[in-house]
Formats: sequence, C-alpha cells, structure tokens
Amino acid sequence: MGDRALRTVLGFLEAHTGIRYPPNKQSLVVARLVPRVRQRGLPDLDAYVAVLARPDEAEERAFALDALTTHETRFFREPGHYEWLDRYARETQGPLRVLSAASSTGEEAYSAAMVLAERRPLAEFEVFGVDVAPGVVERAKRGLYPLAAASTISADRLRRWCLRGTGVYQGYFSVAPPLRQRVRFRVANLMEPLRGVGTFDVIFLRNVLIYFDAPQRAHVVETLMPLLRTGGHLLLGHSESGRGLDRSLRPVGPSVLRREDP
Ligand SMILES: C[S@@+](CC[C@H](N)C(=O)[O-])C[C@H]1O[C@@H](n2cnc3c(N)ncnc32)[C@H](O)[C@@H]1O
Repeated sequence: MGDRALRTVLGFLEAHTGIRYPPNKQSLVVARLVPRVRQRGLPDLDAYVAVLARPDEAEERAFALDALTTHETRFFREPGHYEWLDRYARETQGPLRVLSAASSTGEEAYSAAMVLAERRPLAEFEVFGVDVAPGVVERAKRGLYPLAAASTISADRLRRWCLRGTGVYQGYFSVAPPLRQRVRFRVANLMEPLRGVGTFDVIFLRNVLIYFDAPQRAHVVETLMPLLRTGGHLLLGHSESGRGLDRSLRPVGPSVLRREDP
C-alpha cells in the first residue's frame, strides 16, 4: 500500500470514529482491507481508496468502517456488571433506561435487557444501543446469533429469552421478539453529541475507550454526560480507568462510576 493511500485510510477512519491506529498497528489496516480489495476485483489498495472517495460509494464506506473497527463482544461479558445491574434493578423502583454505547453486534444490550426483564415488566425498561459501524448495527437489530454465542448465557435465560433457529436458521438462535422490542439500535459516533434519545439511568461504555487517547476519552465521556441523569451510573470496561474523566463521576464499585450533583 502506498504511503498516501495508507494516510488516506487512516484519515478516513479518524474522521468517522476518532480512532487513530498507532504506527505499530498500521499493518492491520492493510490486513483488514485486502480481502475486500480482492472481492471487488481491484488491483490494489490505492484503487480501493479511490473507490471510497466516490460519492455513490456510501455502502463501501460503511463496509470499510466495519472492517477497520474491532467488534469483539459476547453475551454477559464482564459478568460483574450484570450482577451489579441486577442488584440495582432490585433495589430501585420505576422505569429504567440503559444505553449501550459502542454496542457492536448487540450482545451487551440484549444481556442488559435480559437482566432488566427479570426485575421489571417489559413496558418499564428500555435499552438503546449505538455504534459507529453500520454493519454491526444491522446485525444487532436482527438479534440473530450463532449457537456458539449462547455459551455465556445461562440455561434459564436461554429458555426464557432466546429461540433456537430451525430450517435455514439451523445453527442459530434469536432473541425472543418481546425482549427484542425493548431494545433499539442506531448508528452514531460517540465523538459527537447523541441527540433525541432522552436521558439514561445506566450507560455501558465498555471496551471502546481503549481505542482513544486521553483527551479523546475525556471528550467521549463529556459528550455522553448530558445523557446520564444525576445519580445515574457509568460502567467502564474492567481494564479501563475512570481517572481523568468527568469530575462529577465518583467511583462506587469496580468500573462503576456514579454521576453526582454538578
Ligand atoms: C470491542 S467492541 C465493544 C463492544 C461492547 N461494548 C463490549 O464491551 O463487549 C468496540 C466497539 O466500539 C465501536 N466504536 C469504535 N469507535 C466508535 C465511535 N467513535 N463511536 C461509536 N462506536 C465506536 C466499534 O465499532 C466496536 O463495535
């Protein structure tokens, strides 16, 4: 890949997501795009970069964003947060709204919904998921997963909230429609204000800040802060630190921060 093409791809990614690949990881960019270049029958990445710039190639830009971002996730990942959510739902009353910021393919949002559905009537909670990569948002909306993804869901929850696929869906399971209806997804860049979604009691912001530098991390949290009600909680990934983020956030548990009065 020519230096110029690499710089263009890195600039494209940063403009849409804020992510900056460190120099030692830049070969990943090439590895992640080469299969697509071949699939499109293009001679090299320089030609692919030219395609990305074309106004009529919005779908290709969406595809590239999906390919260049890391979407690793699973149901009930970092289970301590779901135990915390269960306790929180038990100890509080009334409607609850949860945001899964950087929701990837939806496992985090649906896991939260399963926990809430066990403590509230379906009409009394809502989970909202956002991610910058359009392809994973589409997959999240579908709520269809390979059976292997069920390994971290308890047998009881699988029985209550999941349906095993048959026919063409053999080998897959889906989230049951009554639960899926409580969970919505939208494409959004966490670097920019998220408008028109209301406020939340709990925001999951896990395993995404690692892709940003310190000023960007603070910016993302500052941008999300108007969406977190006073007294609401922000959950970070277990390897992510709350240090240097918004001053109204007080640690109250492992990777759990509470928003205090301003
Ligand atoms: C490793 S996954 C984390 C998924 C989930 N939160 C979890 O902890 O399992 C990171 C996700 O962050 C998303 N992402 C990266 N930059 C983003 C941005 N600026 N705005 C929104 N989502 C972003 C990626 O597309 C990816 O799906």
